[in-house]
Amino acid sequence: MSNIPEILSQSSFSHSDLEQLLQCEGEEKRLLYEAGRTTKELFVGNKVYFRGLIEFSNICAKDCYYCGIRRSNDAVHRYNLTDHEILNAASFADENNFGSVVLQSGENSSPAFAQRITNLITEIKQISNNRLGITLSVGEQSEEVYRQWYEAGAHRYLLRIETSNQLLYHKIHPQDPQHDFNRRLGCLHALREIGYQTGTGVMIGLPFQTLADLADDLLFFQQFGIDMVGMGPYLEHSQTPLYEFRNELLPLQKRFELSLKMISILRILMKDINIVAATALQAIDSLGREKGIKAGANIIMPNITPGLYRKDYLLYENKPCVDEEPSQCKGCLEARVALADGEIGFGEWGDSVHFKNRKSV
Ligand code: 5AD
Ligand code: FES
Repeated sequence: MSNIPEILSQSSFSHSDLEQLLQCEGEEKRLLYEAGRTTKELFVGNKVYFRGLIEFSNICAKDCYYCGIRRSNDAVHRYNLTDHEILNAASFADENNFGSVVLQSGENSSPAFAQRITNLITEIKQISNNRLGITLSVGEQSEEVYRQWYEAGAHRYLLRIETSNQLLYHKIHPQDPQHDFNRRLGCLHALREIGYQTGTGVMIGLPFQTLADLADDLLFFQQFGIDMVGMGPYLEHSQTPLYEFRNELLPLQKRFELSLKMISILRILMKDINIVAATALQAIDSLGREKGIKAGANIIMPNITPGLYRKDYLLYENKPCVDEEPSQCKGCLEARVALADGEIGFGEWGDSVHFKNRKSV
């Protein structure tokens, strides 16, 4: 069995190498984080890019067993921001030189929703004089709709696969065509084919998930050739079916550490991609996102949803920043990036270097 420094010096990694890296502790763990950080600096630099996150609606047609805003959760107060509120949030991002916004919501596949997003993309481009890059994170849609949005000006799309293990996927979702692993995978292929910078990700520390599954997730990202990854710890929510398994989970601190290890390992595996320091990290550790950056992440998504609505977009419990307003988040995140020895790429799109490299081949 090779030790961690030896594995880290390799140029390719087997499934067993990845599993060993996921298990390392103490000094070896420190070496892993350091390798994630130096690889990042070498291949994408130490700039951290902001994506202003607008959680514009928590109305969702799906019923994922882990998610607090699932359709069957009657305790949620449902909201849908007006176009005016969304455009105001986008203007805030533009005025503060964030470079990009992410439009995120629960899933809705109606034609009216598709048209609304198209209009919003056009308007955000207009009011920002094309300065703002637009990432979408609004779930599974038809290829035609994805194309319509791309043509309107969105150029990045996030759709987490949640887990690359199809059996586990079926344990954490209802068994119906609306929650089908292959359909989701098909969406990721369609997005890439259309020309989006394509992002995916997984939850870490799900019930029934093993280290072997996480090693498979990393290999899945690599085999797909993904451009961006956002992944974070699974956090239980009392109004969801998976809550029943809360006593079988890894302790929060372990889920947090595993998430940092996943970031560092992924950075070593896919050196030029964009990796998000997920907000869920900060639900466990108050310095969670800084630690994510130090482990190899280069993207932060400051929440610019108007404060009033934040308490209703609880995918998981203990979500940080629900009492803040966008201006407070900006100052806070600037300080956080500085703490992690990073520099903010203000006014830049911060596109995935991996995307550019694969386009130039
Ligand atoms: N814990 C952590 N992450 C969650 N998400 C949804 N519910 C939870 C939870 N309970 C993540 C999913 C989804 C993203 C928007 O939020 O990975 O894709
Ligand atoms: Fe909304 Fe999963 S519950 S997409």
